[in-house]
Amino acid sequence: MNKEGLINKRRQFIKTIGLGTGALLANRGLAFSSGSGRTVRLGFVGVGARGISMLKIALSLEGVEVAAICDILEDRVSRAQDFVEAAGQPRPQGYSRGPEDYKRLVEQSNLDAVYTATPWHLHAPVMLAAMKAGKYGGTEMPACSGIDEAWELVETSEKTGMPCMLMENYCYMQNVQMILNMAHQDVFGDLSHCEVGYQHDTRYVSINAKGELLWRAEDKLAHNGNRYPTHAIGPAAQWLDINRGDRFEYLVSMSSRQVGMNHYAKRISGPDHPNARLDFQLGDVNTTLIKTNKGITVTLYYDCQTPRPVDFIWRIQGTKGIYSGTLNKIHLEDRSRPHQWEETSAYVQEYDHPNWKKEGELAKSHGHGGSDYFCMLDFVQAVRNRTEVPIDVYDAATWSVITALTESSVNHKSQAVDFPDFTRGKWKSRIPHPIKTI
Ligand SMILES: NC(=O)c1ccc[n+]([C@@H]2O[C@H](COP(=O)([O-])OP(=O)(O)OC[C@H]3O[C@@H](n4cnc5c(N)ncnc54)[C@H](O)[C@@H]3O)[C@@H](O)[C@H]2O)c1
Repeated sequence: MNKEGLINKRRQFIKTIGLGTGALLANRGLAFSSGSGRTVRLGFVGVGARGISMLKIALSLEGVEVAAICDILEDRVSRAQDFVEAAGQPRPQGYSRGPEDYKRLVEQSNLDAVYTATPWHLHAPVMLAAMKAGKYGGTEMPACSGIDEAWELVETSEKTGMPCMLMENYCYMQNVQMILNMAHQDVFGDLSHCEVGYQHDTRYVSINAKGELLWRAEDKLAHNGNRYPTHAIGPAAQWLDINRGDRFEYLVSMSSRQVGMNHYAKRISGPDHPNARLDFQLGDVNTTLIKTNKGITVTLYYDCQTPRPVDFIWRIQGTKGIYSGTLNKIHLEDRSRPHQWEETSAYVQEYDHPNWKKEGELAKSHGHGGSDYFCMLDFVQAVRNRTEVPIDVYDAATWSVITALTESSVNHKSQAVDFPDFTRGKWKSRIPHPIKTI
């Protein structure tokens, strides 16, 4: 296909995925702000629901090519290849020769980075293979299944010099980033507490409408504790400069009994169906308390097994005031009326994150309120500029290992469990990321 044909295809593709002309122009402008020049070539491993949606974002970015696709399901590989071609790019190499075919993908010589959106237990193996092959890694969450695997990620990244990013899109949500900006400007004063939670009815991704058990159900059958901590803890860890001036020292964790998944299975398949009597290990609501080295406490919830509206809580408080994500309200001692909440909108003009001011409208045309867009863009820019990734391997390990630490605490009557210091003391001298414009 000639160049004109490719450009037309790309235009058509961007139209198909819902970016209007304004967004397209803004997107083109981005090429200048995002370190123009070098094309970044990505390989995708796992192109189910999440993989495809991040692939569409990658294809919408200037100077990004998707050059390899891997999935155990052949039809998913060809669907993703079709998307890439429809975007005006050459058909990427496909890999679907079994569960370890990602090992061939990471060796593809023209790739700069490998992104994975597979089931959880495969994230670390794919990232380890990618780093060993000299590629940047970007992984969906959690990055690892246990403490040993977390150390392996850290040590492999240090040894190979290849960064590994936890693609924690929730850190890029508009209110999360605005609070980060405010915390950096000391608006809340000396911080003492955060309360966060992944509280989202996601039962349907464990048991589908036909009553079939999906891979997430297998995990719930085998494990207790907080199985998906990073959407909630990631934002709090950034607000608190964890691994950059402070660190998580220990946690205690407790899970409620399990009744939710059996109830759900009964609703879908009837009371006599064997799923209604499955012995799920995962309690319906997990509550964890974390203490940092500075003495700050964080309450962390995991609550996805019963019907409920979404609420990530996202509370932060200190000597000068408090923000509540549940209410989306703020109280600051020197600005608000005593004991009264204020609408957060009153602070957006002053404190909105510069990226949201610059690219917010474009971002919102993508998933998770626009956070997916900023997350992929931040990753791609680090790869292009050969810099450290914004959510690095130490953060990936620290946030992800909460799955294993909470399970251990829950199984031992909520006994305190120490966090490994994956930075080996470097947290004392590492400095927080500045608030920067993409
Ligand atoms: N950041 C977010 O907001 C967000 C949202 C949804 C899912 N996720 C994460 O993304 C990941 C994928 O979730 P999903 O909902 O897309 O699941 P999914 O089941 O829809 O997709 C997983 C894909 O991985 C493929 N796969 C399985 N084993 C493989 C192997 N050995 N090699 C290559 N491919 C393999 C499957 O065939 C499937 O296409 C999970 O880690 C999930 O937690 C993140």
